[in-house]
Amino acid sequence: MTSARIILDRDFTVGPVPRRLFGSFVEHMGRCVYTGIFEPEHPTADENGYRQDVLELTRELGVSIVRYPGGNFVSGYRWEDGVGPVETRPRRLDGAWHTVETNAFGLHEFAGWAKKAGVEVMEAINLGTRGVEEARALVEYANHPGGTYWSDLRARNGAKDPFGITVWNLGNELDGPWQIGHKTADEYGRLAQEAGKAMKLVDPSIELVAVGSSGRGMPTFGQWEYTVLSHAYDEVDYVSMHAYYQEHDGDALSFLASSNDMDGFIDEVVATVDAVKAKRHSKKQVNLSFDEWNVWYQRGLESEDQPHVVEKRGIWREHPRLIEDTYNVTDAVVVGSFLNSLLRHGDRVTIANQAQLVNVIAPIRSEEGGPAWRQTIYWPFARMAELATGQILRTAASGDRFDSAQYGDAPVVDASSTYDEETGRVAVFLANRGLDEASDVTVSLRGLDAQQVTRAEVLTIPEGGDRFTANTELLQDAVGLTRLDAVTIDEGGEVRVTLPALSWAVVELAVRSA
Ligand code: AHR
Repeated sequence: MTSARIILDRDFTVGPVPRRLFGSFVEHMGRCVYTGIFEPEHPTADENGYRQDVLELTRELGVSIVRYPGGNFVSGYRWEDGVGPVETRPRRLDGAWHTVETNAFGLHEFAGWAKKAGVEVMEAINLGTRGVEEARALVEYANHPGGTYWSDLRARNGAKDPFGITVWNLGNELDGPWQIGHKTADEYGRLAQEAGKAMKLVDPSIELVAVGSSGRGMPTFGQWEYTVLSHAYDEVDYVSMHAYYQEHDGDALSFLASSNDMDGFIDEVVATVDAVKAKRHSKKQVNLSFDEWNVWYQRGLESEDQPHVVEKRGIWREHPRLIEDTYNVTDAVVVGSFLNSLLRHGDRVTIANQAQLVNVIAPIRSEEGGPAWRQTIYWPFARMAELATGQILRTAASGDRFDSAQYGDAPVVDASSTYDEETGRVAVFLANRGLDEASDVTVSLRGLDAQQVTRAEVLTIPEGGDRFTANTELLQDAVGLTRLDAVTIDEGGEVRVTLPALSWAVVELAVRSA
């Protein structure tokens, strides 16, 4: 048995919980759009072709904002192809995923879906093959009330009222040599500055995200952010971050410690952004948009579902199965620790998007003409999106640690917490990364008295299963949340929780001011 001690003080806060931390991502990739959120022939489809089963799961997941339409896809995309009468929309080759894009789904369809899902739209523009002119045209099309060429075209295409899109990505991963229209930091920084300026001239209320590094391991990481922001600091509001992790060669400990890397990545981007701010003597703060993060098993060249394999055979298909990872218990615990990392940094990471929403490395899976179900990683996201409200608390944790080959040592129990004065609730989110040992956790509250445990749930290895147990089409609920009984409030007001080995848990408490 390992142990951990967590101290929370109602006055030691990080800041309010940014609702946009619970974002997701819908890319025209694989089966995320087609047969994911959109499948007109599906038995649950509504009059717009939206799958109601997927919509319901999206609402239950608690997603706040959804980035669209890519990803690598956007860097070769013409947004005009996706508007207007569906019959006249062109079929195009999408070079990013070696796919035929029918354009049956575009901006209007996505905005309509987002409204039904109750999520904010985060729109990415193409700064790979396109530029300032197309960017400002799209903002005029989406956000201008009317009486101009683009806004009147929107009205003629069926949307009299503007979409009112607030958050815009200025391109995607343009630091990556794989990206269509890959650029140097100077080339991209200047383009982002000019596109951003022109877009804000059309609608000054929009918020802009500059492309940061595609990963902490990119050779240009750090210098890329510094150079891009040296050009575009005044025009942009956020810089993006992307990170994917996986278990390599059975090294579970490194995988479980990978939130160490996420923490370090965030701290380094904050430092770089603030260095530009200092150099410019600027009063403005640029925040972080962690707009792609997740577990992703990048299997390499031999795998059937990898785009480059299809590409080698010269086959172009519509919405092929691409990177449809099946997630297990270990993945859910790791995703829980990523959410902890994002929440702990919620003063600077104010947008985050799990990549992606459906089928493509996603918490929701769906089959064409068939069911939709929740993957294991669905649960930590859903509960945190529901229960993390009010203020983020600084979560001082001490206790047993473990060593990992790739990411050094890490606390066995990883934690984050929130306090909502309005509802009188504290929520503590815990990941026990001990593979074989349960953990005894003590939570001490300062300035608050714990009255009652209002909710305690845990996700762990189910009976008869192991750490690789997953939810599948045939066994959709093999892994889920169950009640955690091992939670007590002792006479001194300390909360004691026993976490099973390899588990993710949430404990919600009713509290009073002490
Ligand atoms: O989410 C899958 C892909 O990962 C995105 O298209 C790209 O931006 C990233 O490399």
